[in-house]
Amino acid sequence: MDLVLSTERGIEWLLEEELKGAGHKTAPFPFLGRVRVADLTERQILKILYTNPLYHKAYILFEEVKLEKHRRDLDTVYWAARNSPIIDLLSPSLSFGVKCNRKGHHPYQSQEIASYIGAGIIDGCRTKRGFRPKVNLKDPDLLVAADAFEKLYMGVELVGLEGMHHRGWRIYNHPAALKSTLANALIRLSGYGDGMCLWDPMCGSGTIPIEAAHRQIGLAPAFFRKKDFLFLRSHILSRELWSEITHQTDEEINWHKGCCIFGSDRSEKHIKGALINAESALVERKIRFYTCSLSEFPDVQSIDTIVCNPPYGIRMGNPKSALKSLKELFITFAESKAQVLVMIHPRAEQVQAVAETTGSHLDKLIKAYNGNVEAFIMRFVKT
Ligand SMILES: C[S@@+](CC[C@H](N)C(=O)[O-])C[C@H]1O[C@@H](n2cnc3c(N)ncnc32)[C@H](O)[C@@H]1O
Repeated sequence: MDLVLSTERGIEWLLEEELKGAGHKTAPFPFLGRVRVADLTERQILKILYTNPLYHKAYILFEEVKLEKHRRDLDTVYWAARNSPIIDLLSPSLSFGVKCNRKGHHPYQSQEIASYIGAGIIDGCRTKRGFRPKVNLKDPDLLVAADAFEKLYMGVELVGLEGMHHRGWRIYNHPAALKSTLANALIRLSGYGDGMCLWDPMCGSGTIPIEAAHRQIGLAPAFFRKKDFLFLRSHILSRELWSEITHQTDEEINWHKGCCIFGSDRSEKHIKGALINAESALVERKIRFYTCSLSEFPDVQSIDTIVCNPPYGIRMGNPKSALKSLKELFITFAESKAQVLVMIHPRAEQVQAVAETTGSHLDKLIKAYNGNVEAFIMRFVKT
């Protein structure tokens, strides 16, 4: 089986690297924010779903059809759905829905593709299986996922409508919280590992420290969401195998591992929220939180790596105070023992200019997105 995974645009290559590292074969996929993994067994798919930290959603690919960018494509799509093996996965008690993403110029909208797929599935089910499946677009039991570009890729979604960047532990919502998948990508690029100390000096609701703690103790990214995967409702993958894999993985969590992770923020409200989140994420004893301005952080000499998501002055604060915090950050980095600083920020040139004044050197620059904001992941080292 082939699996199509989605992630934040710009970090596909990291997801690909992670999958290759686990011994999987990836194949090109012509969409930003997607990675295709080839020839997977059911066990391998379930393992990826539970343990991979960088994906948002995943579908098993069932159909691939060439599009001519003509209105007659809609008939092609209809027949592909009508003859698809997806029909065999439905039953009279299961509802289904279709979600389509489209890229490029086509003489039709993604909603039209979705409705032709839906019509094909209903007619195919009626003729081949003898019943009319129920449609539910808001909360379907089986979700048909489709990506349209030069070809139409059609499959069955395994995660659901809510992506895995929602880990399921968040109680306190920060107005500019970072996605956990992006937090994981930043930590990965920082080289953080055993025996090292990580600090997020602007931790807000604690996303980066919590993700780092989960990585350190080996708690699976889907730990808190293992019961709400959509495939459990349609039974398209084995529940028994899922429970075996999740159980085995959970057995390997090192709950007693000592971690050196710090989170600080000048807002007391956010730090209280970060503590609530860390408790809900079961790692409150692995992280030390402080309410302080980053220049007043007391443990700066024990830090190896700084990972953060500074304010942009877009969703909160203003550009002037965001720039002031950025300058403070690079001065503190220069004075600290840390050798690496990784961050995500939309204005790479501005950050680089500040970095140069404090003797930091841009070592890696990756164009990515933070939701709809075009941003850059940057890694700085000391010169
Ligand atoms: C974009 S938010 C971080 C969100 C966080 N990554 C999360 O997922 O919740 C930036 C945070 O930086 C904090 N901040 C800004 N300037 C600061 C400074 N000079 N010292 C400490 N915290 C600061 C703000 O209070 C805010 O919570």
